[in-house]
Amino acid sequence: MKLIAKSAEMQSISESHRLAGKKIAVVPTMGYLHEGHISLIKKAKELADVVITTLFVNPTQFAPNEDFEKYPRSPERDYNLAQENGSDYLFNPATEEMYPGGFHSAINMTGITDKFEGEKRHNHFNGVATVVAKLFNITKPHIAVFGQKDYQQTLAIYQLVRDFLFDLKVVVAPTIRENDGLAMSSRNVYLSSAEREKAGVIYKSLSDALLVIEKGENRRKIINAVLHNTLRSVHEIKIDYASAADADTLEEPDVFLPGEHVILVIAVYLGKTRLIDNALITIPNDPHIKKHYFV
Ligand code: PAJ
Repeated sequence: MKLIAKSAEMQSISESHRLAGKKIAVVPTMGYLHEGHISLIKKAKELADVVITTLFVNPTQFAPNEDFEKYPRSPERDYNLAQENGSDYLFNPATEEMYPGGFHSAINMTGITDKFEGEKRHNHFNGVATVVAKLFNITKPHIAVFGQKDYQQTLAIYQLVRDFLFDLKVVVAPTIRENDGLAMSSRNVYLSSAEREKAGVIYKSLSDALLVIEKGENRRKIINAVLHNTLRSVHEIKIDYASAADADTLEEPDVFLPGEHVILVIAVYLGKTRLIDNALITIPNDPHIKKHYFV
């Protein structure tokens, strides 16, 4: 695997692969790779001839009070993991390479990014969109692979690709979890062992809400109450948000209709660590309605 630090070099490598008729997939990451990231690299390898993993802790997507400085970093380990799992290139630029003096542009997103993460983390998605647009222009991919773990981020990326006509396909891969259901995350390393033991409650609350939906519950307030009740069983948890929303628009109707795709989104603080997770479900068809129409 080749390590590339300069955008111009990455661009000319990608261009030559394109001219040779190769399909390129990019997997953007902030490093400290875990099984979740690795699953994306493997998916990229399945779908393309050339896989470029990017490793860049992007300062513009962190607010001043957030964890940019202490975000975990392990570039040598990341290099080995990316290589072992089939990545052909690791693009790992310095901050000055991505944001040199004189860099004064930014992408401003609205709509889908105004709620949930966007509301709680001001400017976060503008930073994500700006760096991802740059990474697309640097790596020139046919395919870009992202994780469902950051569900709202995937909606933002779809929006970005539509709005700016990026000529590539976005692929979203499922969330990889620990044995107790905790979604893998670079930030899990912040948890104390006592906190780690309690962190499974996030997945439990999603599972509880999925179960009531499967049994026929479609009222948003009741679904949200199930999420909140389970989360509140752990006193150390502070809920940032825990809500059911339309999976495509993030709108929050009082009642979800049969066949509607619903996303359950959660952000909590466990001690000082902020964790996010989500689950997707389709509202089942109501057997009574069916009977009414088809008898
Ligand atoms: P990062 O948090 O490092 O995540 C990189 C990619 O891995 C994202 O697409 C994310 O959704 C995915 N991912 C994280 N945990 C996962 C898990 N448990 N299962 C499956 N996929 C998982 O997301 C970012 O970095 C940044 O915002 C980035 C897109 C790189 C822009 O800076």
